[in-house]
Amino acid sequence: MRIDIITVQPGLLESPFSHSILKRAQTKGLLEVYTHNLRDYSTLKHNQVDDYQFGGGAGMVMMIEPVVNAIESLQAKVQYDEIIYMTPDGQTLNQGMANQLSLKGNLLILCGHYKGIDERIREHFVTKEISIGDYVLSGGELAAAVLVDAIGRLIPGVLNDETSALLDSFQDNLLAPPVYTRPEEFRGWKVPDVLMSGDHKKIDNWRHDMAVERTKERRPDLL
Ligand code: ADE
Repeated sequence: MRIDIITVQPGLLESPFSHSILKRAQTKGLLEVYTHNLRDYSTLKHNQVDDYQFGGGAGMVMMIEPVVNAIESLQAKVQYDEIIYMTPDGQTLNQGMANQLSLKGNLLILCGHYKGIDERIREHFVTKEISIGDYVLSGGELAAAVLVDAIGRLIPGVLNDETSALLDSFQDNLLAPPVYTRPEEFRGWKVPDVLMSGDHKKIDNWRHDMAVERTKERRPDLL
């Protein structure tokens, strides 16, 4: 999968993809992530990319011209399955959306800033609008990093043990069951006996029951 990200703050995206699982996905050649500085596509003085909004009001708006220059120059090289705009008024990201997007070939992500982007970009170029939750960030970059992480780990072959993504919270609309590791006892707090039983059928049943119980308790809306 190839992911291109258009941003006015490329520095914010330098680190998130250089560690851990996303780093491994890139090393294995399963994921390519490129960031593009929107200012490089401005034809105006001082590489201007934002302007006052028509009709008045506080806050700047990202201009259509540099954004379209950036999108079209990338589209000349890459055919995108989706052009995604990160915005708090988009569809809220969930595991189902991450699963679907992980099966795509090429994604282009546009990070908003200031008051947002000129609406005509949304009307004529953007194919999907995604929010990572009901709160407002200073820009779309951290949201894009969250999205790329959620998608990247699901690309087939990225995780060592493919089943581990299948057992994640939300994959079957259940939260994940509790997990334990050594020591078997710490300050008198013991690991549940069933996990030490070696009976895999019993363990699977216990995990399922715990997942259901946890979901009922914490996220009944998922059931
Ligand atoms: N940009 C600002 N806030 C955001 C959010 N919650 N989700 C996605 N993009 C955003």
